[in-house]
Amino acid sequence: MIRTRFTEMFGVDHPIVQGGMMWVGRAELVAATANSGALGFLTGLTQPTPEDLVKEIARTRDLTDKPFGVNLTILPSITPPPYAEYRQAIIESGIKIVETAGSNPIDHLPHFKDAGVKVIHKCTAVRHAVKAERLGVDAVSIDGFECAGHPGEDDIPGLILIPAATQQLTIPVIASGGIADSRGLVAALALGADGVNMGTRFMCTVESPVAQSVKEQIVANTERDTKLIFRTLHNTARVAANAISAEVVDIEARGDAQFSDIQHLVAGARGRKVFEDGDLDAGIWSAGQSQGLINDIPTVADMIDRMVSEAEHLITSRLSGFVTAVSAA
Ligand SMILES: Cc1cc2nc3c(=O)[nH]c(=O)nc-3n(C[C@H](O)[C@H](O)[C@H](O)COP(=O)(O)O)c2cc1C
Repeated sequence: MIRTRFTEMFGVDHPIVQGGMMWVGRAELVAATANSGALGFLTGLTQPTPEDLVKEIARTRDLTDKPFGVNLTILPSITPPPYAEYRQAIIESGIKIVETAGSNPIDHLPHFKDAGVKVIHKCTAVRHAVKAERLGVDAVSIDGFECAGHPGEDDIPGLILIPAATQQLTIPVIASGGIADSRGLVAALALGADGVNMGTRFMCTVESPVAQSVKEQIVANTERDTKLIFRTLHNTARVAANAISAEVVDIEARGDAQFSDIQHLVAGARGRKVFEDGDLDAGIWSAGQSQGLINDIPTVADMIDRMVSEAEHLITSRLSGFVTAVSAA
């Protein structure tokens, strides 16, 4: 067992988190994660309405009696979803752990705190993590430049970002982005983190609800097979390399692209089609550089057991073997 401030605070066996993932963070994956002793998050906005989220929480509870949480991704939008209603659904369902992401959680935090909900805020910059700590979140996840989804605009990889964060924060820090196995877990702990958050690795498991062809493509892909889109809009997203993400990058490279020029390519409904129908070029889909470390499609339990047991071996055998006593002169 690897115990950290994170495992103590959230009452889980392993310092491993399955982060919120649009269209992926559903009951089966979250329950499998919880039953394996790690912390899984349902993705709130994957459910079309707050009422559907209440049902998905109940469905997850039918599959596990272990702790799990809900991700609330707060993105700036012209037509925002009813965030306050999703928040209320989370609180009224008795959920005690929430992952916020996307922007400052200030509007939601007092409500969660009043309801006794622990909040992990996921961000991509040390300054945002420091601000979140000041606002009163219980822990932060920090996504390095390697990550799937939104890595921010600073382009700082985890090897710098995580220790830069842990040296400024007192609350537990969860390292995220580019982690897919025991080596990433041990490295994150060495960098001062209290746990790791993974997306792409969890997406490529038996219980992940995406099409088999997507999982097989992740296994086939290398660390080079991602594209950064929305760079020119200052809303960067790391997605899998495919015909559509290549087209978006080409349009953005012209230098004068507006969102309206790429909107038809990046529509959420098209990305959902990739996951549901397995048509890999139907739209854009998030995946990180950690694809280069993913070589199989295990069950969540096998993946987590392997990660933890190999990490224990790395710490107690390989790393400790490097330390030699200075011989007496
Ligand atoms: C398919 C997919 C969808 C994602 N959707 C969300 C989301 O809706 N909200 C969020 O906070 N993070 C989202 N993420 C980011 C993950 O929670 C996690 O921070 C990220 O994947 C970590 O990087 P990794 O993929 O290298 O492990 C998504 C990631 C993937 C792979």
